[in-house]
Amino acid sequence: MTIKLTWYGHATMGLDVNGTQLLIDPFFTGNPAASTTADKVKADYILVSHGHGDHVGDAVAIAKRTKATVISNAEIIGWFARQGVENGHPQHLGGGYRYPFGYLKLTFAIHGSALPDGSNGGNPAGFLLTAENKKVYLACDTGLFGDMKLIGEEGIDLAALPIGDNYTMGPDDALRAVKLIQPKQVVPVHYNTWDLIAADPNAWAKRVEAETSTKVHVLKPGEVVTI
Ligand code: NI
Ligand code: MN
Repeated sequence: MTIKLTWYGHATMGLDVNGTQLLIDPFFTGNPAASTTADKVKADYILVSHGHGDHVGDAVAIAKRTKATVISNAEIIGWFARQGVENGHPQHLGGGYRYPFGYLKLTFAIHGSALPDGSNGGNPAGFLLTAENKKVYLACDTGLFGDMKLIGEEGIDLAALPIGDNYTMGPDDALRAVKLIQPKQVVPVHYNTWDLIAADPNAWAKRVEAETSTKVHVLKPGEVVTI
């Protein structure tokens, strides 16, 4: 009974929850860091954290190909329906729902969420998954916020945090985030896709492991962490 997290590059991830494939913020076309392509990736569910193009990405095409259920906030699910996506499940921040694969809650994030065509994308979110007696927190695009401590109180086995700076937390604030959340393991994301979000994940890992008891997994695109 395991959860496998695959980092596909940038903020695109897959969670294999005991055989169910969750695809998060699927940005392959035009993503210089992508380890696979939109026509190959598997999805039973597609989770979209917010409306920005590097997160909505190929989600419409993949949803149409796979018939996956898209999970996001209500504004974004309404937009997907208008693009002809048949299966959507709207939630909103603070709300959880018990899916067949586990309990998924949308969490707070400090960021923007306008959709690629300028439509209102509601509020940006992160995701907190409880499944297989484990908890996985995907902060998604966000700045540091103190209520990460509340999320950490749930007991996080694995977190994915942005470290690329400019659009999200940089390495210093991501280290502070680890101290608030206290996850057992962490994966850095949203860095080195472009020069603007260049970061040294190994230097960050050394700092995290020197100052906390959290284990850092620096992945190459396509690599997997199993918990
Ligand atoms: Ni964004
Ligand atoms: Mn982004």
